Amino acid sequence: HKQQYFSTELLSWYLRHRRDLPWRRSKNPYYIWISEVMLQQTRVDTVIPYFHRFVERFPTVQALAEAPEEDVLKLWEGLGYYSRARNLQGAVREVHERYEGTVPNTKAEISSLRGVGPYTAGAILSIAYNKPEPAVDGNVMRVLSRYFLIEEDIMKPKTRILMEKLAQKLIPEGTAGDFNQALMELGAMVCKPRSPICLTCPVMEHCAAREAGMEEELPIKKKA
Ligand code: ADE
Repeated sequence: HKQQYFSTELLSWYLRHRRDLPWRRSKNPYYIWISEVMLQQTRVDTVIPYFHRFVERFPTVQALAEAPEEDVLKLWEGLGYYSRARNLQGAVREVHERYEGTVPNTKAEISSLRGVGPYTAGAILSIAYNKPEPAVDGNVMRVLSRYFLIEEDIMKPKTRILMEKLAQKLIPEGTAGDFNQALMELGAMVCKPRSPICLTCPVMEHCAAREAGMEEELPIKKKA
């Protein structure tokens, strides 16, 4: 019941409150991919103008695959973490050559691309292809560790795997893209690292951390 409640209420909240973000206006896997790579270490507000410029200059897999690397890095200037841009272009070139420009829609194929880890793979598969794959990042681990009072160290690979299994079980049939983004959105807007805004949270009523007064102690993150 606690899981069913969580999934239903969270999805319903997201459908009522989601922000209108440029990459949410399309299901184009290539656009979703670019947005997820940009969003990995950068805030939404910063990413928006970069995303617009990037898809305007490189509107297709082919356009990005054929562009000189320096043009790509030039458009990335200011976003930082330039290896993200190099890996993205390298992987997009693989998609261009190996898959005729169509971003693959299986976990195995997509995960084999350069720079595409479990989070990015899950985000593309769920958001663009609506496949029931989890997309667990720091925001999602925070939300789950609090609601289910999971006191495992999130730096441990075992904990991430546990979170991915849980996140996958929670996806309501046919809603993977929206549900995964609902989890991210709750983590970003409500269930924040410090001073979460519990009174506006759609699942506060059954949140175990809230009940225990432990929301600010979770997730547990020990030094590596
Ligand atoms: N952060 C990571 N992925 C996101 C998405 N799809 N929407 C908003 N914030 C995100």
